Amino acid sequence: MKNKYLITSALPYVNNVMHIGHFCGVYLPADVYARFCRARGRDVLFVCGADEHGTASEIGALKENIPIEEYVDKYRILQEQDFCNFNMQFDFYGRTHTELHKDLIQNLFTRLDEQGLIEERTTRQPYSVDDKMFLADRFIEGTCPKCGNDKARGDQCDSGCGSVLEPTDLINPRSVISGSHNIDWRDTKHLYFRASAMEGKLREWIGTRRGWPKTALSIANKWLDEGLRDTPITRDLKWGIPVNKPGYEDKVFYVWFDAPWGYVSISQAATPNWAEWWKAGDDCHYTQFMGKDNVAFHSVFFPEQQLAMNDNWKTVDVLKANNFLNFEGGKTSKSTGHGVFLNDAINDAPADCWRYSLIASTPETDDTDFTIQRFADIVNKDLNGILGNFVSRVCKLTEKNFGNLCPPSRGFDVAGFESTLNEKLSELTGSLEACEFRKAVAALRELWATGNEFMAQNEPWTLVKNGDMDRAGAILNECFQLIDFYARVSAPFIPKTSEKMKKIFVGADDYLSSNWPDKYERRIKDGQEFTVPENLFDRIDAEKIAEMTTKYVKK
Ligand code: MF3
Ligand code: ZN
Repeated sequence: MKNKYLITSALPYVNNVMHIGHFCGVYLPADVYARFCRARGRDVLFVCGADEHGTASEIGALKENIPIEEYVDKYRILQEQDFCNFNMQFDFYGRTHTELHKDLIQNLFTRLDEQGLIEERTTRQPYSVDDKMFLADRFIEGTCPKCGNDKARGDQCDSGCGSVLEPTDLINPRSVISGSHNIDWRDTKHLYFRASAMEGKLREWIGTRRGWPKTALSIANKWLDEGLRDTPITRDLKWGIPVNKPGYEDKVFYVWFDAPWGYVSISQAATPNWAEWWKAGDDCHYTQFMGKDNVAFHSVFFPEQQLAMNDNWKTVDVLKANNFLNFEGGKTSKSTGHGVFLNDAINDAPADCWRYSLIASTPETDDTDFTIQRFADIVNKDLNGILGNFVSRVCKLTEKNFGNLCPPSRGFDVAGFESTLNEKLSELTGSLEACEFRKAVAALRELWATGNEFMAQNEPWTLVKNGDMDRAGAILNECFQLIDFYARVSAPFIPKTSEKMKKIFVGADDYLSSNWPDKYERRIKDGQEFTVPENLFDRIDAEKIAEMTTKYVKK
């Protein structure tokens, strides 16, 4: 069986602080999956990092009127801090503005060139007479010829139909810097990657991929069916990786030629053994996480380059693309302030409340609307009402009647739920293997609910009242077994809370490993000392909902 697992999340542009929708679709599911894989004993390399080049950050820096280097540092650090606050456990979080990355890209370019897959072409590019510069990618906007969106950019109709575009496709183009329509088309030389030569190989490759969500597969196939276009991989810009070819001193590589290879250079920065994942062929399993707007680049553009290198690069096995998570009936927008950004969210509720409610809302099959009410309902019902309540009742009732040692089970066969638990556990495991997070959460919730049902059926408090202490103790013993079990299976979702649950069992670290269970196990010893934890989750009350609504809903 494979033991090497490579996991990546799309490298975020550093032109903003991150909002919960982006986090929910691209980063959080990858972290849940990575934690799960590690718990299964796999050798995981989970990398991500800042996508620092490209016109997204250049335009941001212009708007804030600070030097680009300062700008990308600022947002890279803010994003990293947010990830840290939300307990993202990357094996390494890197960046693309590094020497390592530059060397990699320039070497890869040379290799492509040697394979005869690079061609020089003279093309007409939009030149802004007023701004005195060529307008690459996001520097030019206009109307999308395919869907009519009037904010389509020179490289992609991002906020509309998602099509990948070239500036010549735009109707009525304008400069993003000055807004000027005074655009001249001037000749300039660019290097093209002969993607059309890769069509057969790419088709074959996609045919062998399994387990992709429908959205991802249909975008990839649409591309193939339209025929692969040769793509320019250079730009008339200064910010980026310099092109290592005479005559191209004033140009850089296109950001989508440099960024996906960031997965590799960041892995190289992470570990000298990076090739154990990246060159391992079938011995490694590779899952990518991204939003649907990134699918074309990851299902076509990146793999066709990887295959073209003819150098045994590991290509993606499962491309997990999510739809978008909207907020209160609209898109999140930094300019209007509508939406929840991670740096604010963490002040309203602990990370685990967000992690759980967001992963329960992963936009897997459709765009999904997230609301403050939904957030509060999930926290109140599932976290506070089911899990938190169970743990607290068990610990308090036991302490009051038996002191701080887990009462013995005395061989009572109290649990009629064992087969249910095992069934739900295998659903949970199977869903996580398949990266189906909503199903996984549903199974987890049912596991938690079993504990409360067990308490309700057996009423240990009544047994205590009637003096049946042995049986009451046995019931509570079973409940402690459940707490330990819940700590293990909840850890990928709510890692901090799982830690707290584990700490209930004083000094038990040596025998309570955190590995993923194959079946329900009773590991807590009779007489194990325990402590009563503080409430695991506070309720989000009406007042808090109102406060958050005022703060985040700006429509
Ligand atoms: N920076 C892009 C975005 O935020 C994603 C790049 S993914 C990569 O949409 F693989 F190319 F890095
Ligand atoms: Zn469009």
